[in-house]
Formats: sequence, C-alpha cells, structure tokens
Amino acid sequence: MEKKWWHKTVGYQIYPKSFQDTNGDGIGDLKGVIRHLDKIEKLGANVIWLCPVFASPMVDNGYDISDYMDIDPSFGTMEDMKELIEEAKKRGIRILMDLVVNHSSDRHAWFQAALKDPFGKYGKYYVFREGKDGKEPNNWRSIFGGSAWEKVPGYDNLYYLHIFTKEQPDLNWENQELREEIYEMILKWMDLGLGGFRLDAISHLKKNYQYTNLPPDGPDEYNMAFEYFNNVDGLADILREMKERTFAPTDALTIGEYDHMGPEDVEDVIGENGSFSSVFDFCHTLDNVRNPKWGNTVALFDDYRDQLFAAQKIVDGRGMLCNFLENHDKTRIIDRFLMPEDQNRYSEKMLPVTNFFLPGIVFLYQGQELGMRDNPKQSIQGFVDKPTFAIYDRLIAEGKTDAEALGQINRESREHSRTPMQWDASAEAGFTTGTPWFPVNKNYTELNYEAEEKDPDSLLWFYRKMVAVRRREDLEETFLYGMLIPEYETVSGVLAYRRKDEKNHILILTTSLADGMALPFADTIEEVILNNYDTCEAGEGTIRLQPYQCLVLKVKE
Ligand code: GLC
Ligand code: CA
Repeated sequence: MEKKWWHKTVGYQIYPKSFQDTNGDGIGDLKGVIRHLDKIEKLGANVIWLCPVFASPMVDNGYDISDYMDIDPSFGTMEDMKELIEEAKKRGIRILMDLVVNHSSDRHAWFQAALKDPFGKYGKYYVFREGKDGKEPNNWRSIFGGSAWEKVPGYDNLYYLHIFTKEQPDLNWENQELREEIYEMILKWMDLGLGGFRLDAISHLKKNYQYTNLPPDGPDEYNMAFEYFNNVDGLADILREMKERTFAPTDALTIGEYDHMGPEDVEDVIGENGSFSSVFDFCHTLDNVRNPKWGNTVALFDDYRDQLFAAQKIVDGRGMLCNFLENHDKTRIIDRFLMPEDQNRYSEKMLPVTNFFLPGIVFLYQGQELGMRDNPKQSIQGFVDKPTFAIYDRLIAEGKTDAEALGQINRESREHSRTPMQWDASAEAGFTTGTPWFPVNKNYTELNYEAEEKDPDSLLWFYRKMVAVRRREDLEETFLYGMLIPEYETVSGVLAYRRKDEKNHILILTTSLADGMALPFADTIEEVILNNYDTCEAGEGTIRLQPYQCLVLKVKE
C-alpha cells in the first residue's frame, strides 16, 4: 500500500450545533470549535470532521443545504471558517467538511427555480416524475418515513423525489450540468485549505427508477426500496468521475458514508484507485444490547466481534476502513453496548479499545471521550428531530402503544448523541450562557470535561493514552500496515486480535465478561502497553483476564 498522510488519521467528529455556544443564542458555533481546539490537540486527534455548517433552513440540522458557498449565520461567518482552518493547522489538525450532495434543501435557489419551471434547466437538477394512477410514481418509502415522492405545488400529476425528508429533494446525478456545478463547488472549498471531506449519503447518488410498485412492507403500503437507491449499478462511474474532477490531484482525505459495500465494490470504493480514501464501517451500527435480539452484553459483543472481523475480511487489505463507534446518527456506546449492570469504570474503557487497533483509520465522536450517555425522554414531545416523529407514527400505525413506541425511540434515537457537550458543572454544562437548543443531559454536574481533566483515572485520560499508543513512534507502522490475525475467535466474551510486522508483534485482548476468565496463553509478554487495570495476570500457560479487562501487549516473536 502506498503510504499517505491520512493513514495516520485519528479523527474527531464535531456536531457544531451542540459543541460550544459563544454568543448566548443557545446554538453551538464555529468560534466555539476554535475555543476548544487545544483540547482536541491534547486528545491526539489530527483530523476534525465538522458536520455541515453551510447555509441551511436546518430541517435536518444542516444536512439540508440552501447555499453550498456560504456559512449559516447561526454558526458564524466565512471568516470564522477560515480562522478555524488556520487555527487547526497550527495544531497539526486538518478540517474535513461534510459534503451533502445527494440532495439539497428545498430552499436552495436551484430547487426554487425548478419549482417554477419543472421542465426547464433547473428542473433537470432534480428528479421530477409524473404520477401513476392518480398516485405517486411508485411506492418507495423515504428513509425518514412516508412516501419518497412529494407533489409539486401547482401541478396535478407531478412529483419530486426525496429519499430523506421532503425538504431534502434529491439532486439528479444523471445530469452533467449539475455534476459540473458540484465539482466547481468542491474545488472552491478545497482552495480554502481543507483536509478533505466526509461524503454524506454518497452511496445513494445513483437511482434505479421503477414505475412498478413493490410489495408493501408495512401498513402504509410503501416499500423501503433501499436496493433501488443504494449502491445501484453505475454508481461507481459517477463516483469515479467526481474523484477525477476534484480530489484526484490532491492529497485530500475523503471518507464516504457508504452503505453495504460488498466484496466486489471494495476496489472501486476504497482500493488503490478507488473513489474515496476510506468509508465508515457500519457493520456494528444496528447492534443494541437493549434490543431483545441481543439482550445481554456478552451476546452483543460476540456478534459485534464476528461482524468486525467479517468487515475486515471483505476489505482484505485492499483499502482502509474507518473504524468508529459513535456518530451524530447513533446512540451513545455505553448505553448501546453494555447492560446497566455491566456499566462501570472498567467496561467503559474496554469498549473503545475493541476496534481502535484494527487496520484502518479511526474516528471518535464529541463526548465519547467523556463517556457521555443517552438522555431518554418522558414523552415523544421531548424530541426535536423530524425523522423521530415519522418513526413514532410508523410504530403507532403498526399497532404499538405510546409507551412501546417511546421505549423503542428512547433505545435507538439518534438524538441521544446530539445533547450539548458537557464542559463543566456550571449552568447548562458550560455549553451556553443562554437556553440550549436541545436540553443538556442532567448528569453533567458529575460527568463533564473539567471533572475528568482533574482525575487521572478518568475515561478522558484513558482515551488520551489510547490515542498516544496508536501514535507511538515505534508502534505506529505496525498498527497502520501490520497483518491482522484474529485470536480466540470462538471464545465467547473475548474479542482479541494480533497486529504483526517485522518490527512488532502486538496482541490486543478485551473481554466483556463480568467475571473475567482464564485463557490459554503461549505468548511471552515484553511490555504491557495499555491496560484498564493496574495488573496483568499472565503466568504459566494462562492469562487471567479481569472483569471487562482490556490489554494491549507487546509480545515476543
Ligand atoms: C446522513 C447523515 C444524517 C442525515 C442524512 C441526510 O445519513 O449522517 O445525519 O440526516 O444523511 O442527509
Ligand atoms: Ca451561538
């Protein structure tokens, strides 16, 4: 593999709206990100992915862009953005922006022009279709609920496609003119000195339109026709062109939000000449210990382990996955992976180690390093995200009671990761001097950055150590390019692997067992590199793992 700077990525994702408010309007802003850059540097991150800060009506918190070349006033100005890029650079940190080009906002000038003249130039920037039998063109369901088609105002039988909310009309990637506009926009942003992009919903650009209805898969008569608008044949050509016209001559880091990358797609997507540097590895994102399908911590971990190794096998050294556990669309991992009785100081440290040393790049999400938690609501009115309400309506339509629907949403809602950052024990966790746009988790008086900074045994300090291990000069090459050898694969409650090259042989050992366990052990330990306990109990032919222990060991060849 040809070596690139971005192979060393330890990324930190920021959801700006919830990171730090500096002007008291209750909304996080770019100045707030600048304020905390030193902390991100101290954590050891060298890349920041900034969720969208472009001009937006905020129906989907910025994932609905009304002007790609402007910063939303709630976040600040273009000057603030330039300052952020500069200040980050001084600390060795590159900024990735979030490129949302599967769709725009319905407030974008292109869509406004398209509505006025659906058959003119801008109509071809979007996907307009005639209805069928007095109904939508087909019965696709939007990912966010309801029909994927919305009637065009003023027309009897004309619809536009939106695979997310109706305020996020899909762009027409079959149209060369549209593609050229997007490339130009990407190049302009690159000129500002960005490190690259995270590419939103990028596996959806190509659609396989059908006028025939699919068998309904719910009481709403719609079908979640995912395979008709995800990873569709021909997608690779579009993505290749995008890369060639924009990123190819640069050293940009590009990470795709790419669903269902199969073994046959790897070369095209992240191979040596693939369209992106990396893609987020979503293999574990449906796992949730409180879902009866798993129901206990060990069962969940065994499944998670098998999926991690399966994903690595698919890639098979042909490219680099992006290993992560939390993001702005997922719940917090302590609640997602651990039953309440398994949540403690040891298990919360063991969790991030599980995938942090696998081949690939790594990403952490704001607040993960503090162990921030889900924030369940007493009623559905406590939520604010449009899709949450669509999910609620669907569950009720399927016959669930209000309590059952709320229970499922409290378990799975992406809104849990969007509560404001907990900086200190002062009012509103130091996030804002005003009223936060979304309530702060009440646990902030104890769980906050300042408190953890003062406690060398805290999770925050452990995350710093973990990052430092990955970056350690004598080990880094092995973590980046060494072989992966899964270990103890059939032992329930153990997730372990080796990373090996000519220089080092490293064994990563983690257990989700509340009582720990003794494992047969033939290695000779040279150094205990990372440990969530003070001791490592290895002796004659066995190693005794303590409850929820994690170990990174340098062993003899
Ligand atoms: C991606 C984003 C998500 C957003 C959606 C539509 O999945 O991560 O937050 O709502 O795309 O842009
Ligand atoms: Ca603000």
